[in-house]
Formats: sequence, C-alpha cells, structure tokens
Amino acid sequence: MASDSDILRRLREYAKRRKLDIHEYLGEGIQGIVCSTTLPSAIKAFKDRDAYEREVAVYQRIKERGISSVCGCSVPTPFSHHDGLLVIHMGIVRPPFVLDFASAGLDGPLFEHSPEAISDWIESRMDLFGDRWTTVLKIISVFRSHGIYLSDVKPGNITFE
Ligand SMILES: Nc1ncnc2c1ncn2[C@@H]1O[C@H](COP(=O)(O)OP(=O)(O)OP(=O)(O)O)[C@@H](O)[C@H]1O
Ligand SMILES: [Mg+2]
Repeated sequence: MASDSDILRRLREYAKRRKLDIHEYLGEGIQGIVCSTTLPSAIKAFKDRDAYEREVAVYQRIKERGISSVCGCSVPTPFSHHDGLLVIHMGIVRPPFVLDFASAGLDGPLFEHSPEAISDWIESRMDLFGDRWTTVLKIISVFRSHGIYLSDVKPGNITFE
C-alpha cells in the first residue's frame, strides 16, 4: 500500500499536469487523500488501485445515468481520472451529499454477508444516523436501482449538514 507522501506526490502531479491550483485539504480516510482546487473542484488520490478502479466504475455509471442528486443529497460530478496516478477529479459538493464509492459494488454487492451480519450492520447504521436512517435507506435503494451497491455507509460519506 502507498505511503501518504506518495499519495500526495500523485495528487500534486495530477494538479500540475492539469494546471490546477490546490486550494485546501478536504479530508482523508482509508482509501486516499482529497483536496479542493481553485477551479473549484476536488481531487482524490487513492492508496490502492482496486479501490480506485471501483470508484472510477461507479462514477462512470453515475455519469451514464446523469445522477447529480439522490433524495436531495448532491452527488459529485465526475470530471476526469488518471489510471497512472490513481486520481479522480470531480466537482465539489456541499452538504447534504453522498460520495465515496470506493467500497461500492457494481451490479451486485462486493461481499455476501450472513443474515446475522446484515442485521448487526443495520443496527450499527441506525445508531450512527439516528432520525436520518429512513432517508439513508431510501438513498441506498435509489443507488441500488442504478446497480450501485453502497457498503461504506457512514456519516462523512453520507453527510446531511
Ligand atoms: N467532491 C467532494 N466535495 C466536497 N468534499 C469532498 C469531496 N470528496 C471528498 N470530500 C471530503 O473529503 C472526505 C474524504 O473523502 P472520501 O470519503 O472520498 O475519502 P476516503 O479516503 O474514501 O474516506 P474514508 O475511507 O474515511 O471513508 C469526505 O468525507 C468529504 O468530507
Ligand atoms: Mg469516505
């Protein structure tokens, strides 16, 4: 797996090649590092190729279906990506939003889970989202109708405010 300095190097290299100025750090997680640019736009550089390819495939579907929002939550517009630098360039969103498709399955779930594991997962998500859980369920179901199976469902990836 790539080190943080390698991920930042690729993020900066992408910005340089596309003549973009990095504005600020937006966040980071297990999959990568995200910065905004003065365009404005967002650049996400990935730690590993598998996660990058999954997210590229989902954004391709998002583009084909013209999805820009789901249940009132904005979805980033994919602009471009770079297979060598493992970078995705997309639009900036403000809450409420849904993003981060690096763990999503396309046309089927990434992993099969036992009914017990699914019910534990639902319980933990209900604790995380509280009153918003019904909306989150609708969001999951709309994405599924497009063949996008969200699995990393947590505040941060689905942000209401
Ligand atoms: N297009 C965007 N517009 C605005 N903010 C963004 C955008 N992309 C990412 N962010 C911010 O950066 C954070 C990290 O992005 P993302 O979830 O894609 O990274 P990650 O490495 O997959 O994170 P994790 O593994 O923690 O879920 C998001 O929670 C969000 O706050
Ligand atoms: Mg995330």
